[in-house]
Amino acid sequence: MAWVWALLLLLSSLCVKQSSSIISLGSSLASATQSIPWRSPSGRFAFGFYSQGGGLSVGVWLDGGGKNDNKVIWTANRDDPPLHANATLTLNEKGLLLSSGVSGENKVVASPNDSAVSVFSASMLDSGNFVLYNKVNHTIWESFEHPTDTILGGQALLTNQELISSSSENDHSSGRFHLRMQLDGNLVLYPLNIDDAATTAYWATGTNGVNLSLRLFLNSTGFLQLINNTDSSIYLEINYRFYQEVSYNDHNENTTTSSNDGIVHSATLDVDGNFQLYTHQFEPSGGFRTSRVLRALKDYCKVVGFCGINSYCTFNDDRAYCACLPGTDFIDPQRNTLGCKRNYSEAHCKGGKDNIPLYNITPLQNIVWTTGIFYSEELMSMSACSQTCLEDCNCEAAQFSGGVCRKQKLPLWYLLRQEGDNDVSSTVFLKMGIRSLEADDGTVPHELKPQIKGKDPTLKILLLTLSLVACSCALLAISGVFIFKFRVLRYKRLLEIGNLGLTGEVTLTSFSYNELKRATNGFKEELGKGSFGAVYKGSLNRGRNLIAVKRLEKLVEEGEREFQAEMRAIGRAHHKNLVRLLGYCAEDSKRVLVYEYMGNGSLADLLFKSRQRPDWDERTRIALDVARGILYLHEECETPIIHCDIKPQNILMDDYWRAKISDFGLAKLLMGDHTRTFTVVRGTRGYMAPEWHKNIPISAKADVYSYGIVLLETVFCRRNLDTTVSNPEEIILSILVYKCLVEKKLEKLVLGEEVDKKSLERMVMVALWCIQDEPALRPSIKTVVMMLEGITDICIPPCPTASSI
Ligand SMILES: *[C@@H]1O[C@H](CO)[C@@H](O)[C@H](O)[C@H]1NC(C)=O
Ligand SMILES: *[C@@H]1O[C@H](CO)[C@@H](O)[C@H](O)[C@H]1NC(C)=O
Ligand SMILES: *[C@@H]1O[C@H](CO)[C@@H](O)[C@H](O)[C@H]1NC(C)=O
Ligand SMILES: *[C@@H]1O[C@H](CO)[C@@H](O)[C@H](O)[C@H]1NC(C)=O
Ligand SMILES: *[C@@H]1O[C@H](CO)[C@@H](O)[C@H](O)[C@H]1NC(C)=O
Ligand SMILES: *[C@@H]1O[C@H](CO)[C@@H](O)[C@H](O)[C@H]1NC(C)=O
Ligand SMILES: *[C@@H]1O[C@H](CO)[C@@H](O)[C@H](O)[C@H]1NC(C)=O
Ligand SMILES: *[C@@H]1O[C@H](CO)[C@@H](O)[C@H](O)[C@H]1NC(C)=O
Repeated sequence: MAWVWALLLLLSSLCVKQSSSIISLGSSLASATQSIPWRSPSGRFAFGFYSQGGGLSVGVWLDGGGKNDNKVIWTANRDDPPLHANATLTLNEKGLLLSSGVSGENKVVASPNDSAVSVFSASMLDSGNFVLYNKVNHTIWESFEHPTDTILGGQALLTNQELISSSSENDHSSGRFHLRMQLDGNLVLYPLNIDDAATTAYWATGTNGVNLSLRLFLNSTGFLQLINNTDSSIYLEINYRFYQEVSYNDHNENTTTSSNDGIVHSATLDVDGNFQLYTHQFEPSGGFRTSRVLRALKDYCKVVGFCGINSYCTFNDDRAYCACLPGTDFIDPQRNTLGCKRNYSEAHCKGGKDNIPLYNITPLQNIVWTTGIFYSEELMSMSACSQTCLEDCNCEAAQFSGGVCRKQKLPLWYLLRQEGDNDVSSTVFLKMGIRSLEADDGTVPHELKPQIKGKDPTLKILLLTLSLVACSCALLAISGVFIFKFRVLRYKRLLEIGNLGLTGEVTLTSFSYNELKRATNGFKEELGKGSFGAVYKGSLNRGRNLIAVKRLEKLVEEGEREFQAEMRAIGRAHHKNLVRLLGYCAEDSKRVLVYEYMGNGSLADLLFKSRQRPDWDERTRIALDVARGILYLHEECETPIIHCDIKPQNILMDDYWRAKISDFGLAKLLMGDHTRTFTVVRGTRGYMAPEWHKNIPISAKADVYSYGIVLLETVFCRRNLDTTVSNPEEIILSILVYKCLVEKKLEKLVLGEEVDKKSLERMVMVALWCIQDEPALRPSIKTVVMMLEGITDICIPPCPTASSI
């Protein structure tokens, strides 16, 4: 191998004019030897392994030649953890594959869209583009089409593509901000932790409304342009007018007049959310000098979400700082932008005058919200404003200015401290809990804890007893797994499961990784990607039994035995409204689950995407199916399970259009230590109960909240949060529905569809009860089922608030 390299290097040094150095089939790079990367002819760009986060990643970088740090331009599979084992990159007909030492598993780094096309060669070009060619030298894959956080001169951000900032300078996984080239022609910066909306955009070109298909292009002399996709004309120069800071100090005459040869231009969405344009001037002696030319925002506090929850941003001496609100401390003192957590435990809010001994109100001057989404705005006096927040359990803070009192709930986000002279007299009243007596006797009960903490001794004992006593069948069958290791038998059993729909105890099959690889044809057909990992279609028994295979990622480290115990707990949950777990694989660090295959997609597809939306009867049936599935999880199965992520995407439709809940029992695999539930909020925005954002225990009522949102969405076939509607009052479905319920105009919302008015009203009221902020106000899922079935009467619910939206 070494001589090939020597030859290649020799060639590239001899033929300076050559525009590309060809990497031929069979070429490989090994991480262990930190072998010489594949360089572009000029030597400025390199492709290969680089160090990141204590391991190695594969990517493209601008080579500092030892004179200065390399600048990473692109990372392959950026959200995969860095490699710690020895790995090899190999170019074959399928593409560029990464095989890591121990498992010998191949990961795709680059491969053509069309698997029928075979790769012939690859090249690291002088533009910084890494490309794959076919036999006739046509580009069939290029890194330029898959940007991460940077585009280079000559590269475009295509319509509907986005740049996502990195987590930190040393961690190139997806971070907190994104820059979208939107379908509507607008180029916009948003924080990633909240749905994109006009209110959270913090920089934009304002080119929306022209209904043009545009792409962002950085031309090779460093000009950013929006290009008309139809005729490739320049629609807009994104010049200094769009930037708050322009520094031409390093961009002197010399560099602009001398040939452009020594300069590489780049535009990067930086870790801190700013979009910046750089030049990298290569020195004849090696290395390069980086200068910033343009910066979208000068004041980082204008970056929405620069500081995390419970903190505010101050801008001082050209730098932005995050500071904690009173009563909170930094989540991670090393990383102040992550936000702050409360340092007191909260009393159970009682509401009204009863709150007075429980809370203090602290007035803060000069603090404002960068994006004001308040749940209540009323004219009143300053003291009344402070008082109303104190007495309102939903209120966490209120902003008083100009006689208007605006109340804000958790999470407290996007706060900014305005310095000095602007005489906007605005006061924020922050409500702070006085350390409660309940908290003094130790920790607050945490209902989820026994579920989530695998290491809890009582849980272990419980599991042990359960697995010993509960079902001799299971034990019998477990030993069966060891005895009948022959695949044929295994498949036969699966066939029985599939065909007979056995309701009793059926053991889970423990598969080998290779079996599943075969069954899915090498994880070829991806059905979807969930929060736990990708799902692939597969088949067993020569294609007669279809299965869905889920490869789990980002799990909490845990041993094989704990994993098997969790699997058995999930496997014991059998209900017609739950997706059946058939088996699993736990091999080395691989964790794979095998489920029955659901042929008709998810409820989300059915409600929001399908042309023919399900009729009223079908929707009521689905709503009841889902509630019954949750009832089983909460109250009827052996080990009660809190799902933690109920949403239409997790509700699948079987061949008979019966709704079945999937992904139950997985939350605890992800969460591990319960202390992380506060910072690493699980679940999905929009469906998450407000308590996820507060430092209070999560109970089964969190699922009831999510169910309430799903119920509303099922009833009205639209998302709870729909920013595409024209009337701003209609953006949040729950608020709109409440208004119509009170005004007795609910049928207005079903757009002329024939529905049973009584049943519509009943479902709406159930949903509104479910989405109450206060968990205690929400009914149990059992009550929900009874209310939906019409067994229990329902009274008019209080107004819901759009807290977690
Ligand atoms: C990686 O490979 C090198 C050389 O082949 C070997 O010395 C080293 O032990 C390997 N490391 C691991 C973690 O396998
Ligand atoms: C493809 O490019 C390589 C290197 O530039 C050249 O040697 C080869 O002949 C080209 N092949 C075709 C079919 O053009
Ligand atoms: C690959 O597929 C994507 C979307 O499916 C498309 O936008 C892109 O142009 C394709 N790339 C090539 C090189 O065919
Ligand atoms: C924008 O253009 C597309 C096709 O070019 C068209 O289908 C769509 O209706 C247009 N939208 C508006 C708001 O004009
Ligand atoms: C880049 O765009 C600028 C401004 O439109 C233009 O003057 C320049 O010639 C362009 N550079 C190239 C290489 O096309
Ligand atoms: C974009 O290109 C199309 C097709 O040539 C043209 O009709 C349209 O006027 C262009 N739009 C603008 C704003 O230049
Ligand atoms: C301009 O470039 C020349 C040659 O590259 C160099 O000698 C000179 O110092 C440069 N001038 C400035 C002001 O950087
Ligand atoms: C919480 O932090 C504040 C300052 O950030 C401090 O004054 C207060 O004493 C702390 N409270 C507790 C209970 O630690």
